[in-house]
Formats: sequence, C-alpha cells, structure tokens
Amino acid sequence: MIRLKTQVPGPKSLRILKGLKQKNGGWSVPHPLVLSGRGKGPYCEDIDGNVFLDFASQIASNPLGYNHPGLLEVVKSYSLRHPLKCAGQDFATSEHLDMIESLLSISPFSMDAAFLINSGAEAVENAIKICMRKRPAAKMGISMAGSWHGRTLGALSLTNSNRIHKMGYMRFPAMRLPFNENAGEELERILRAEASPEEIGFVIIEHVQGEGGYNIARKGMAEDIRRITKKNGIPYISDEVQTGLGRTGKWWSFEHYGIIPDVFCAAKALQVGAVVSRKSMFPGEPGAISSTWGGGHVLDMALGIKTVEIIQKEKMLRKNQLLGEYMLGRLNDMKGISGQRGLGLMLAFDVKDASMRDDLVIECAKNGLLVLGCGQRGIRLVPPYVTGEDDADRAFDILERAVMKTSIGGFRHTGAVCEFIQCGRHIA
Ligand SMILES: Cc1ncc(COP(=O)(O)O)c(C=O)c1O
Repeated sequence: MIRLKTQVPGPKSLRILKGLKQKNGGWSVPHPLVLSGRGKGPYCEDIDGNVFLDFASQIASNPLGYNHPGLLEVVKSYSLRHPLKCAGQDFATSEHLDMIESLLSISPFSMDAAFLINSGAEAVENAIKICMRKRPAAKMGISMAGSWHGRTLGALSLTNSNRIHKMGYMRFPAMRLPFNENAGEELERILRAEASPEEIGFVIIEHVQGEGGYNIARKGMAEDIRRITKKNGIPYISDEVQTGLGRTGKWWSFEHYGIIPDVFCAAKALQVGAVVSRKSMFPGEPGAISSTWGGGHVLDMALGIKTVEIIQKEKMLRKNQLLGEYMLGRLNDMKGISGQRGLGLMLAFDVKDASMRDDLVIECAKNGLLVLGCGQRGIRLVPPYVTGEDDADRAFDILERAVMKTSIGGFRHTGAVCEFIQCGRHIA
C-alpha cells in the first residue's frame, strides 16, 4: 500500500540526493527518493518511511518487484561467500554455465551459445563486434529512427532518441531506417544506391522502442526488414535489453513477429548482460571478446537464473499478457491523453507536451506513484510482474487525478521535488 509520511523527497532522502547532486559526476536527475531496501511486491519504501507504488521497475530491470521470497533465498544462500564478483571469463564458476543454459532454454532452438557481459550497452557492443568480425568488408551498421541502444560509443552511434546523449561524442558510421512501414523500402534503397550487402555489418532493432517512446513495431515493418536482411545475408540483431525476459508477455519481443534474429541482446531483467546467437556467429579465436567481470558477479547470475525459474513457475508470461490487456483497457478509458499503446507490461501514452509530461511525473511521485517519461512527451508504465489488478487500479486513480490537475492551464508544481526529477524547474 502507498504510504506518504513526509514530503517527497523526505528529509533523509533530501540530504543524500543533495550530496549526490554535488558530488556525482554523472548526475542525471534521479527520482525523489532514496531506497531503503524495504518493500514488497511492486511497493518500495524509502529511507524516510514513504512507500511508493513502483511502475518504473528500476527502468525495467526489477521484474519481480521488491523482496520476492524466492530471490531473498538466493541472496541468503550467497551471504557467506566471497568474492561474489569473479573475473568470470577467465576464472569460471558454475553459475556461468547455469546462466547460459538457463538463457538458451528460453531462446529459439537454433541459438546454441551466449556470451555474458556487464550491462545492456556492452551486450549491444559485443553483438556489433561479433557481426563485424564475421563481415570484414562491413563499413557501417544500420539502426532505426528513435532507437536507444546504450551509452558506450558503439551503441551510442546506433542510438538516436535524444541528442543530449550524443552531443560531443565521436560516432562510428551508421545509417537509419524510419520506424514505420517505409523501413523495408528504405533498406532496399540503401542496398540499391549506397552500399553493397557486404558493406553493412548488421541491422539492429528494438521491436518495442524503450527510451525512444515505447513505440511498437508494426508486424509488416519487422517482417520486411527480416526478409531483406535474410536475402542479403545481413545479420539482424534484436535488442531485447528492455523488452526481454517476459516483459511483453513473451520471453523475447521478436516472438510476437514470428522472427528469429541472428543475434539478440539481453540485460536489465536478466541481471547480467548477454549476447545470444549461434555458436558459429561468435569469433573462434580465444580472447576476441571478453571482459574482467563479464557475467562474473555470481550473485547476479544466480538471481538471473532464479528469475527465469520464477517467471516459469508462476506462469508470468500469461499473467503479463493479461495484466497488460487490462491496463491498456484502463489507459484507453482515460481522458486528456493520447497515443495509448502497449504490449504486455510495456505501456505508454502521450500528453500535450514535454513540460506537462514532466509535471505529471512529479505529480505522480508526490502522490506515491513512480512512472518514467519516454520519447518526446510520453509516459511509460513498466510495472513489475508481481503487480495485481488492484495495484494497477490504484496507479490509474493517481494517474487520472494527476492528468486532470496538470492539464489545467497555469499548473505549477511546488517544492524541491523537481530538483530531483526530470523537470529541473524548481518552484518554491
Ligand atoms: C533497448 C536498450 N538497449 C540498451 C540499453 C543499455 O543498457 P544499460 O543501461 O544496461 O547499458 C538500454 C537501457 O536503457 C535499453 O533500453
């Protein structure tokens, strides 16, 4: 249950957030709370004793919510063990093999190898690298308009959802396809007018764009790209970092399209980064791809393995589909918003403009609901898989009130909350 004991952020949170604002070199305006580690299901408690309903799921990286008993068991069983972080590519632990086998057991049959790494961006980076290694004549990659693949320079070159992420950084050559029904035609045009198939290293796509706005690929668009890449021998990479591990109601979003990619990337919900493909796609030479910690945090791997097991045991794929349909129905009934969309538990809608979107995120947080922005003026709803319809109803009550309040002309939020959330327009 939501419980607000103090203003948001509360005094203890405020002290820490202020310290971070001053001293954290990568300050990126976090939500206005400091997590205490307490919480249950989709509810998390901050260090001031406030309880929030979390429809952000740690940016889709906390699929089972807070303190799931199955995961607590895992944490307990590793509590007297050190090091928990091993140089996993060079000094193996059993979790490394178990994690890969768990991942392959939920991947298309033809995929028989995976490479574990530290983060989503590094998963993308390594997907790029294995494709490039196979295609020495390749001079560029292709990604989609509005895409988001991470912040390392390779992944960032393929990303184009917001220029703040890219300003001042070098890029490697990349071309774009529109994220609409013209994508196939544009790919054909590139192949006709600009580059031979051998010169294109890969095409990378999020079937549901994350940061870029929770835009859901049309079936025809994905099918066209897959058909053309297959015909021309160009590797198709599916970025499942945000969509993966059941969030859309299937293990991987490409399953909605009847597509089997050549390579896919996972991270976030899996707790470690991973590149999954056919063994023959990976470089044969030892050391061609690696990293000290790559998948080497044994607790992360153990939690990832358990997460897969719990999703299976608790039949969460079906549950996510059903709750997603219920939530989309509620979204469609909401007044004052537009562009309602969703696939499983990746849902979004748009409001008038970016300023109202930021106000809405703030207003929700002040009332105990955590949501995230996306795209130009979108709000995304990313609840944990342990969310019930009653929790969703609670969230929609807050959302509806917040939309009504923030859409009134001249709305001004008050308090320090916005120093620690997207808007940055502190109005005392
Ligand atoms: C689709 C997608 N790809 C890649 C990434 C990068 O993942 P990470 O932040 O773990 O590097 C993200 C993160 O938001 C993502 O949503």
